[in-house]
Amino acid sequence: MSLKQVFEDNPNRRYIMFGGKGGLGKTTFSAATAYWLAKHGKKVLVFSVDPQASLSDIFQKDIFGQGPVKIMDNLWAQEIDADRHIKNYQNEIRKKILDMYGFDAVPDEIEQYIQAASAEPAMEESAIFDAVVDIVVGGEYDYYIYDLVPLGHALYYLSMAKVYDEWINKITKLREEMREYEEMVSRLKREKMTEEDEILTELQYIRGRINASSQILTDKEKTAFFFVVIPEEMILIDTRKAAELFAKFDVPISGYVVNRVVPRELLQQNIPAYLKNRIEMQDKYLTEIGTYLGNQVVANVPELERDVTGLDMIRKLSEIMYGQ
Ligand SMILES: Nc1ncnc2c1ncn2[C@@H]1O[C@H](COP(=O)(O)OP(=O)(O)OP(=O)(O)O)[C@@H](O)[C@H]1O
Ligand SMILES: [Mg+2]
Repeated sequence: MSLKQVFEDNPNRRYIMFGGKGGLGKTTFSAATAYWLAKHGKKVLVFSVDPQASLSDIFQKDIFGQGPVKIMDNLWAQEIDADRHIKNYQNEIRKKILDMYGFDAVPDEIEQYIQAASAEPAMEESAIFDAVVDIVVGGEYDYYIYDLVPLGHALYYLSMAKVYDEWINKITKLREEMREYEEMVSRLKREKMTEEDEILTELQYIRGRINASSQILTDKEKTAFFFVVIPEEMILIDTRKAAELFAKFDVPISGYVVNRVVPRELLQQNIPAYLKNRIEMQDKYLTEIGTYLGNQVVANVPELERDVTGLDMIRKLSEIMYGQ
């Protein structure tokens, strides 16, 4: 089964992810796939939460934190700036507090709480997660290609249950604290407390969004998750472990893409010993990949003569991966 065939046989799988260990080719394959789909008339968004701005690098265009940026006909790319999302969060919370209580300025204790909460790593994860949810529930594109950060991290996003719990805890805590504050204020103002619980309403709204997005990302019908591997021992060991974890989280794997395969034909030429050794080493692991993954391998991608950056190289790679 070829990569192209997976796409043709499963036209409903519109959420595409490339996962794998660091530096194996996730961003490269995301870009090449986005290019190929766009060339075939699909409206595509390729996006990432990577603070390294690697989509900016590969498309040779500054897109970080700028929303969807048009790359060419049918193709948009977006890089989420988590820091800016956190700042927006803080402002939203401030505004809500000001609106709710009619203050002119946010009281010191609350400001301190907002600052402290934003310094937590979980806050960053939540901000990123929230931005991803915004994108995937949007629905304006034919294809969404989520260029994942390296494995361990990616698992975090995919284990929605965990993220969900953290969200609920954080917001419930915030809600309780605000409740206390609210009581204090209404005592001071000698007012009756309002029955309507806006925070709770918001909590339910968020829960709905998280459910919607986790359903999309773990839905076999809608999602294709490809694992990127290279023919090396450690990578294969780690990949096997990761695949088990993904299975546990019910993330359906659509196939494996083997990258950086040194063409075997080179053996017929007069090549340096190190290259010969490399080919032989790869042979061993390619055999292993064949044994363990067999027909789950949907593409073998050769080692190219240079890094993949710019639309010309991306096109070249997409032709290798998907055919002309
Ligand atoms: N088949 C290939 N031939 C030559 N260079 C390649 C090939 N595949 C990937 N590269 C290069 O390897 C580097 C790493 O690739 P890429 O950025 O796609 O990896 P990644 O999995 O997204 O990394 P990260 O985990 O850091 O996000 C890039 O410079 C890319 O151009
Ligand atoms: Mg990357």
